[in-house]
Amino acid sequence: MSVGGLAQAKGAESPNGVVDLDLEAKQQWFRIGGGRALLYGYNGQIPGPVVEARPGDHVRLRFRNSLGEPTNVHYHGLHVPPTGSADNSFLMIAPGEEFTYEFDLPAWHPGGTFWYHPHVHGLTARQVSRGLAGVFIVRGELDRIEEIAAAPESILVLQDFDLGADGVAQEPDLMERMMGRQGGLVTVNGDVNPKIGIERNGWIRLRIVNGSASRFYRLHLEDHPLQVIGVDGGALPSPEERDEVLLAPGERAEVMIRGSRPEGSYRLLSLPYDRGVMGMGATPGNLRGGTMVLATIVYAGQAGRSWDLPRYLAGVEALPEATILRRFSLGQGMGMGIGGGMQFTINGRTFDANRVDTRVRLNTVEDWEFVNVTGMDHPMHVHTNPFQVLAGNGVPMRAWKDVVLVRAGARVRVRTAFRDYTGPAMYHCHILDHEDLGMMGRLDIQG
Ligand code: C2O
Ligand code: CU
Ligand code: CU
Repeated sequence: MSVGGLAQAKGAESPNGVVDLDLEAKQQWFRIGGGRALLYGYNGQIPGPVVEARPGDHVRLRFRNSLGEPTNVHYHGLHVPPTGSADNSFLMIAPGEEFTYEFDLPAWHPGGTFWYHPHVHGLTARQVSRGLAGVFIVRGELDRIEEIAAAPESILVLQDFDLGADGVAQEPDLMERMMGRQGGLVTVNGDVNPKIGIERNGWIRLRIVNGSASRFYRLHLEDHPLQVIGVDGGALPSPEERDEVLLAPGERAEVMIRGSRPEGSYRLLSLPYDRGVMGMGATPGNLRGGTMVLATIVYAGQAGRSWDLPRYLAGVEALPEATILRRFSLGQGMGMGIGGGMQFTINGRTFDANRVDTRVRLNTVEDWEFVNVTGMDHPMHVHTNPFQVLAGNGVPMRAWKDVVLVRAGARVRVRTAFRDYTGPAMYHCHILDHEDLGMMGRLDIQG
């Protein structure tokens, strides 16, 4: 059985080591969730075209902004320069303008599931929540493992939309922005509850991307364990069996599922998750979502053979001890502006592109501690260099991450090495309304 409705279109592959792609951001009418919706798409698609590359490839992406507002393209999780015509989130492409992004993936870039989306401060949540997101796959270690490569692969981009009765995307009010906008229409690759086929005794491989502006997904598949083989930026050393996988905005997971149950249909659910309260006395609403059906796994056919996953997947390097520990306090406070809405801060300050908040040296290793003093979860993301999350015993977990969930009232440490590239980069909360409302800092990597 084929994968029903899942966007498998390959936007760009790299036969000769060059990924060449034209990409246009534009507002138009889409058919989504059985109705019409006025949203933003890349190349007329929601989500945008899948880009596939290999380590060492040269990427050339001719971008055209056909929106009525400035935008740009950020390559979330890729280890490429944060400057020039590479992953430069300080750039703004004006309406009607074109810009050619061009960069090389290093030859040792980890394979993984990355993605691209707009990154103009103040407009990011609006543009992502209207549909602008696309997957950027780097083929690597996992793809060379026969037991994994033998399984049919599907990409699941999770997005939610807030549409009016007329199908027009709604702008949230200030309160919704403070909590982080969530839309009632939840889609996988632009479809409501698509079907994914599985052979009895066979395996399927899912690359799941949380492309929502603020919504969390607590993934659970009825009667089937999820074998997690990869997280944000790459492979795990060995498969980890989980009953559920939580994906905060910006996070990805790669999971294998075995068709080990009686024939039938099994729902991939998102279970309720409480991401906190606004705090400051009054609680205008909690941030809980109900159980939702994301997709349905349908048995069809029988695998010709049955096989197990290998215990060993990939080597993930151990980072050396850090020389510096930095703390980032995640806060919120009342803004000075009109309306006096809430602002989100890092170390007491809101984002200013012209102020350097953190200076680091190239070729050093640092530990960063995020301290969440608010009542709401903040998934923190750092551009350019991935990190490893430090476990309670201070030992880095062997997995490259670029988003780490810092729960309400919690503190989390990550270890990162600044490699290859100098220049200004960014770190921020990936609840994109929080980023737009100030929870972002500028990081300068100096040579
Ligand atoms: Cu996916 Cu700076 O973001
Ligand atoms: Cu990013
Ligand atoms: Cu946040």
